[in-house]
Amino acid sequence: MKFFIDTANLEQIKEAQSLGVLDGVTTNPSLMAKEGITGHDNILKHYVDICALVDGDVSAEVIATDVAGMIKEGEALAKLHEQIVVKIPMIKDGIKAIKYFSDRGIRTNCTLVFSSGQALLAAKAGATYVSPFIGRLDDISTDGLNLIAEIRLIYDNYGFQTQILAASVRHTMHILDCAKIGADVMTGPLSSIEGLLKHPLTDIGLAKFLEDYNKGN
Ligand code: G3P
Repeated sequence: MKFFIDTANLEQIKEAQSLGVLDGVTTNPSLMAKEGITGHDNILKHYVDICALVDGDVSAEVIATDVAGMIKEGEALAKLHEQIVVKIPMIKDGIKAIKYFSDRGIRTNCTLVFSSGQALLAAKAGATYVSPFIGRLDDISTDGLNLIAEIRLIYDNYGFQTQILAASVRHTMHILDCAKIGADVMTGPLSSIEGLLKHPLTDIGLAKFLEDYNKGN
């Protein structure tokens, strides 16, 4: 299972990278704005800065919503750095753009996916990654994890190579549940990854080991 961090915050990306388990980064226009990164040139520079910090894939989202605009923007994003994956919204023109990029060997991440039908279409178009948003489904009292399971079943039925990138992960249990279902990738905040470290018996056990060691020293 690949671990991506879902942020445009360079310090958090560095922190996750220092753990040695980071496989990539996902961003979106909202995450960029949260870090105060605005304006076309600043956003492009920020993508390059992120690529310099990590070894893996970095999703960079197009803003255009028409196929010609998405192709123009996506080609420019892909040229920025070899680690860039072009992130494209799940709309009709987005599917056309994914097919265009897939035919030319440019990697894509189909974002804003909320149904298994959308995921099937993204795979048919040749998306490298599909991003179902589990937290946002949970927010509206719909089981986000069930969507991951449905997509896993459908992709396995036909051997689709599109990787399921569980997005909108909000907490550590989401990661574990996605791992049990068999999502290929998860993207979440640093806190959700660091949550995997935590167990009170580990803390109690370590304190006891150190206490006992110090008795003889
Ligand atoms: O990057 C897309 C997705 O992970 C956003 O998550 O928490 O805004 O629903 P969230």
